[in-house]
Amino acid sequence: MDDAIPKTMRAIVVHEAGEPEVLRLEERPVPATRPGWSLVRVRARGLNHSEVFTRQGLSPSVAFPRILGIECVGEVAATTDPSRLPVGQRVVSIMGEMGRAFDGSYADYVLLPNAQIHPVESSLPCEVLAAVPETCYTAYGSLLNLRLEAGQTVLVRGATSGVGMAFARLARSMAPGLRLVGTTRSASRAGLLLDAGYDDTVLDVDGALQVEGRPYQRAFELVGPATLKDTCRHVAEGGIVCSTGQLGGVWYMEDFDPIVDLPANGFLTSFYSGNVDEGRLAGLIGYVEEMGVDVRPTAVFPLERMADAHRLLGSSKGYGKVVVTE
Ligand SMILES: NC(=O)c1ccc[n+]([C@@H]2O[C@H](COP(=O)([O-])OP(=O)(O)OC[C@H]3O[C@@H](n4cnc5c(N)ncnc54)[C@H](OP(=O)(O)O)[C@@H]3O)[C@@H](O)[C@H]2O)c1
Repeated sequence: MDDAIPKTMRAIVVHEAGEPEVLRLEERPVPATRPGWSLVRVRARGLNHSEVFTRQGLSPSVAFPRILGIECVGEVAATTDPSRLPVGQRVVSIMGEMGRAFDGSYADYVLLPNAQIHPVESSLPCEVLAAVPETCYTAYGSLLNLRLEAGQTVLVRGATSGVGMAFARLARSMAPGLRLVGTTRSASRAGLLLDAGYDDTVLDVDGALQVEGRPYQRAFELVGPATLKDTCRHVAEGGIVCSTGQLGGVWYMEDFDPIVDLPANGFLTSFYSGNVDEGRLAGLIGYVEEMGVDVRPTAVFPLERMADAHRLLGSSKGYGKVVVTE
């Protein structure tokens, strides 16, 4: 290991499931490289709703103690692939069991399989770049699967989420001429959605959209199986529904008959960010920078305030993307 790399690092470790207080700041050994894995110095990481669920003990495959964190931006600190991942190369990483089967990005350093370390060329500052990999990639993949066309009215259910906000900004830039309608459970948050680029808002009351008929040609469903059937009731004939999230805390569909519950002649699709296409990810990062898409996080915390970042994410005040820096 390089002399410049310290022996220990700061890490946020979860020893048992619970409230944000279980995110404990500790001193841990910096992991040593092993064949096929390289060490990344983490400069910033975006937070995701799935980490809240994991912290709460709702990810059955995750055993504690564990350092959470499913994405990061930083640079290569020690490498086992010097030609593709030279020391100092700026990189991003998402998913691939980071922060789940092995320790993740809530630390100064993370040891990752080379295959899931992606070199990037970008001059975006770390805290802005950190808002892109998981959140924008998910919004972008879903956007493509929705086959958006100018003139369509698009519902985004769970629109105040990081993914929902990123979707609006990307859709505005990549697919002009849409009418975007975002949902929230709180009338007081409607203004946030209009500021983020939505044309209109609809209240989501106890899993029922407060709207009549089938006004939407497309629906991006982030509340997920808890509300998918209700969403389908409001999508026009031939429409497309993309179910990508599970904010409602329900993972599986029950009492759903595709024959009668899908919109007539409609389509149901999804997107999984774990299927990373390195070229598509690099293209997205380049596009965001070149076109000036506003992906700035709505809140930024230092690493030692990870518990506060989780509190915000889980509270009724949190919206958009939360990033934790060094
Ligand atoms: N398929 C994939 O590969 C993939 C990748 C990334 C993320 N995701 C999923 O996408 C979703 C959004 O992720 P995120 O990290 O962007 O979320 P986030 O920012 O943490 O979302 C927060 C928002 O969720 C809404 N919310 C919270 N609990 C809810 C509930 N019970 N019912 C309805 N709305 C609720 C709140 O909106 P209001 O209070 O305003 O209603 C809040 O503003 C998550 O389900 C995540 O797991 C999937």
